[in-house]
Amino acid sequence: MYIGLDLGTSGLRALLADEAGAIVATADAAYSVANPHPGWSEQDPSDWIEACQAVMAELKATHPAEFGAVRGIGLSGHMHGATLVDAAGQVLRPCILWNDTRSAVQAAVLDAAPNVRGLSGNIVFPGFTAPKLTWVEENEPEIFAKVAKVLLPKDYLRLWLTGEYVGDMSDSAGTSWLDVGKRDWSEALLDAGHMRLDQMPRLVEGSESSGYVRDQLRADWGITGTVTVAGGGGDNAVAACGVGCFRDGDGFVSLGTSGVLLAAKNTFAPDPATAVHTFCHAVPDTWYQMGVILAATDCLNWLSRLLGRSPAELAGKLDGPISGPSSTLFQPYLSGERTPHNDSAVRGSFVGLDVATSPEDLTQAVMEGVSFALRDNLDALKATGTNLSQILAIGGGAQSRFWLETLATTLNLPLDLPEKGDFGAALGAARLAIAADTGAELSTIMTTPKVAETIVPRADLVDRYSESHARYRALYPNIKAALS
Ligand code: XUL
Repeated sequence: MYIGLDLGTSGLRALLADEAGAIVATADAAYSVANPHPGWSEQDPSDWIEACQAVMAELKATHPAEFGAVRGIGLSGHMHGATLVDAAGQVLRPCILWNDTRSAVQAAVLDAAPNVRGLSGNIVFPGFTAPKLTWVEENEPEIFAKVAKVLLPKDYLRLWLTGEYVGDMSDSAGTSWLDVGKRDWSEALLDAGHMRLDQMPRLVEGSESSGYVRDQLRADWGITGTVTVAGGGGDNAVAACGVGCFRDGDGFVSLGTSGVLLAAKNTFAPDPATAVHTFCHAVPDTWYQMGVILAATDCLNWLSRLLGRSPAELAGKLDGPISGPSSTLFQPYLSGERTPHNDSAVRGSFVGLDVATSPEDLTQAVMEGVSFALRDNLDALKATGTNLSQILAIGGGAQSRFWLETLATTLNLPLDLPEKGDFGAALGAARLAIAADTGAELSTIMTTPKVAETIVPRADLVDRYSESHARYRALYPNIKAALS
């Protein structure tokens, strides 16, 4: 038996799977995010430990025999967070999360430093780890002076599980301290951020073992055999493992709270200028490129709050086939945008409202706007030489047939819709645990989900959605200018 732990922004999910990767049970525990000042986003690492105790206790209570037979644990986590610990392993301040924007100025300075983009393969985004440490250096010098190790959130959970300071390449790629091509810490990047190599954890690949669960915890949990803890990875890399996306040309689009377009690569081919993320994958010799939009289903949730109707009800009104783009344009930049604009100040807009515009029209415009933003991401990936021919569509928004058809036609890509099931980062993490413990061929573990249906682009409408996307694209500089 194996457990995948997915340390998410709003809660921890544990998934118990057998050796073949079949799901036996899941358990969830929620925790909160603190926003003590505008733009700040923090979490207390002790909440993660408490959540871990809770999900383990639940699995033990509901599946005692299977839980007692656990041989490996894999970890997935929200990326970029800075968990600062002193020489005794004590947490020095709340973890500063991926969506915290306080270090925008420090990020811009680091981003402009010589060869930082070249070595890290990425723009230094305000949410990345390195600028957070510069912020701490400038604003909390007494804490900065005590930092013995900087751990990504799931690596702090690992410290508690194993007693070891270990990180993995995929998560560490989001710090701006890793030479992403070499898959190792970069002294030059650490220097640029006023950090030292001894403050970084040892690195392993996501599918390798990073250590073993402490005896005390095994005794508490009633597990007699040794339990390997796999390196694991950042949430998107591990989610990719959950859907078997790790060969060159494999890809997926995710319509979650945020939107992701991810392509696996067997080479390191960064292009920071397009605001595409290029990170190490959670399996060896593999990277991935990813476009991220900050609000996908979040836009529909926002509209639903305004209109006083649930997102499902709004989406349900549009369940027929698509018949052409709306005359209303929507820009989904409700929280700023990452790819392709790297613009935390821009905000969304509706353009072309009419006295006859209905809630259904607004819903359609929102689904199209999110699809256009993902088309921008596809174009950004193409500009780096990445070409996708057919990809999986996952996430809550993929339940809307209308949205999927809009997206397939806007991207001009067939979208494979998996059969219903749980194949997110928690499953990916369990699969990494299987890999680390058994050493089995990755291709036998990281399988793709069964496809329920392939949504093909509407050939008769591809040009019209493309023209609408061009109008949408032209809006950005004008809206940006209007807001500044
Ligand atoms: C990736 C990113 C998010 C976070 C939170 O760059 O910021 O995926 O890991 O999910």
